[in-house]
Amino acid sequence: MHFHILTLFPEMVENGLHTSITGRAVRNGSISIEAVNIRNFADNKHGQVDDYPYGGGAGMVMQPGPVYRAYQYVREKIDQRRTSEVADTEKDAHQNIRVIYLTPQGRVFHQSIAEELAKEEDLILLCGHYEGIDERVLEMIVTDHLSIGDYVLTGGEIPAMAVVDAVSRLVPGVLNNDTSAEFETFHDNLLEYPQYTRPEEFMGKRVPDVLLSGHHKNIETWRLEQSIKRTRERRPDLLSESQQ
Ligand code: ADE
Repeated sequence: MHFHILTLFPEMVENGLHTSITGRAVRNGSISIEAVNIRNFADNKHGQVDDYPYGGGAGMVMQPGPVYRAYQYVREKIDQRRTSEVADTEKDAHQNIRVIYLTPQGRVFHQSIAEELAKEEDLILLCGHYEGIDERVLEMIVTDHLSIGDYVLTGGEIPAMAVVDAVSRLVPGVLNNDTSAEFETFHDNLLEYPQYTRPEEFMGKRVPDVLLSGHHKNIETWRLEQSIKRTRERRPDLLSESQQ
């Protein structure tokens, strides 16, 4: 899976995503992450990429030209890579590539969307700043508008990192354990059961006996009960969608 992030703050996404599990996944070749600086595609020597909004109003708007040229640069690189691969795989080098614009006006991100995106070979993520991006270039290149929740951040970088992280961990080879992406929070719309590790007793609180029993069937039953109880207490909205 290849992620291409169009941003004014490449160091922010690179530093964040080259750390921890996504960083390890880059190093072992399961994913690649390319952050492209939109400012490098400015048409003036000052690197200015924003301007006042037509019609007036507060703030600045990102101009269409630099965003479009940054997109074209990435598209060409993807097309070249696919053309070089196409001989052995017979796949279409010029198929449509999803371009995701991170915006609070988008569809709210969810595990099911991460699962859908994990099937793609390339994803282009576009991060906005200021008061947004000129609508014309959005109409030309964007295929998906995604929000990470109903609150407003200062830019699309943190949302893009959230999407890359959630999608990456579904890509084979990113997590150590193939089953760990399945059996956890949101699997079957249930929250994960509580986890414990050593010591057996911490400040007078003991690990539940069943977990020390070695009885796998009882442990499984206990964990399912805990998942249902926890979901009922913390996220009752999920239970109506679950099969439990
Ligand atoms: N940009 C600013 N806020 C955002 C949000 N909540 N989701 C996605 N992109 C954003």
